[in-house]
Amino acid sequence: MACLSRLSLTGFRCFETVRFDFDPGLNIIQGANASGKTALLEALWLLATGRSFRTTHLQQLIRHGEEEAVVFAQVGVHRLGWARNGAHTRLHLDGDSVRTQAALSAHLPLQLLTPESHRLLTDGPKRRRQFLDWGGFYHYGDFMAVWRSYRQALKQRNAALRQGLPTSLVRLWDGQLIDAGARLDTFRRDYVAALAGPLEQYVAELLPELKDELSIHYHSGWRQSLSLAEALEAGWAQDQLRQQSRIGPHRADVRFRIHGREVEQVLSRGQQKLFVSALLLAQAQLFARARGEAVILLIDDLPAELDGTRRSRLLALVKNLEIQSLVTTTDLALIPGVEAAHTLRL
Ligand SMILES: Nc1ncnc2c1ncn2[C@@H]1O[C@H](COP(=O)(O)OP(=O)(O)OP(=O)(O)O)[C@@H](O)[C@H]1O
Ligand SMILES: [Mg+2]
Repeated sequence: MACLSRLSLTGFRCFETVRFDFDPGLNIIQGANASGKTALLEALWLLATGRSFRTTHLQQLIRHGEEEAVVFAQVGVHRLGWARNGAHTRLHLDGDSVRTQAALSAHLPLQLLTPESHRLLTDGPKRRRQFLDWGGFYHYGDFMAVWRSYRQALKQRNAALRQGLPTSLVRLWDGQLIDAGARLDTFRRDYVAALAGPLEQYVAELLPELKDELSIHYHSGWRQSLSLAEALEAGWAQDQLRQQSRIGPHRADVRFRIHGREVEQVLSRGQQKLFVSALLLAQAQLFARARGEAVILLIDDLPAELDGTRRSRLLALVKNLEIQSLVTTTDLALIPGVEAAHTLRL
């Protein structure tokens, strides 16, 4: 089971040098504003994904006046490391340098809920593809290879289109694009189908007022009546004109409707947060079923947007899943029924 036992930060955001030890179950992290609660979760997210959920400029993570930011975590038997010096990032696994982020991600399956998480519903499709691909990556052994193959073909095809190369040189990439694209689509479609049951279950628990009104719509990124090969053929003239591959799995999306209307149009902010929580819990359940181990759930500022009843309900579901979780709050009184043993103060 993935269990985070320790996190060390050096020169990371507001932290000079700190070490945190965690419980295998629920960990409540309490601290005043600006005490570094979000920074702590951000450091973990960085190890798990290579990205920050707050900035695309990773230099900002280095503590002011320091040269380097270093993050280390002990997860099960593995030691995961990330260091940033100027524009250079180094990754380590069990003391050895590793080249790909996927090597670290494989050992740290994290899910994240923040006060910004409603953007999964309100922003464009990119976030929702990332959500699906998080699932795909951990659910299907060869997902990453297929995803990379598709990205490579797409990148090369787009470059050829932009350079105005002859048709034969642009469409040289179509075989790989169609092959990998169709497989990527199958993974995502299967994953959405598998997610539907657990999602309905968690929506019923967290948002009983929406029970039986939810529908899920997966869009593959091209017209459904056509195969990807046919769609590419039909779109070829437009691709040439726009100098860009406009259809395919890189345009995929998954939408959720209540009473036939998009969730982001009908749900309040608190409901949106609970809906995203239901999505993450559904993923966590699928993950556990498929892999026989558990994800680690990070919840930044749990009380934000949620009333007392909904806070307790969400926390009860997290506890029921028996996964490790890190939950931050400014004030312990906002999280009822939590034992002090689980509390870490910043
Ligand atoms: N590169 C940096 N160097 C030094 N300090 C930084 C750096 N980046 C951010 N900080 C500071 O780190 C502090 C912690 O920020 P963080 O957002 O983690 O706090 P928080 O506990 O989540 O607060 P809140 O309860 O308001 O969400 C802030 O005061 C911020 O200004
Ligand atoms: Mg914060």
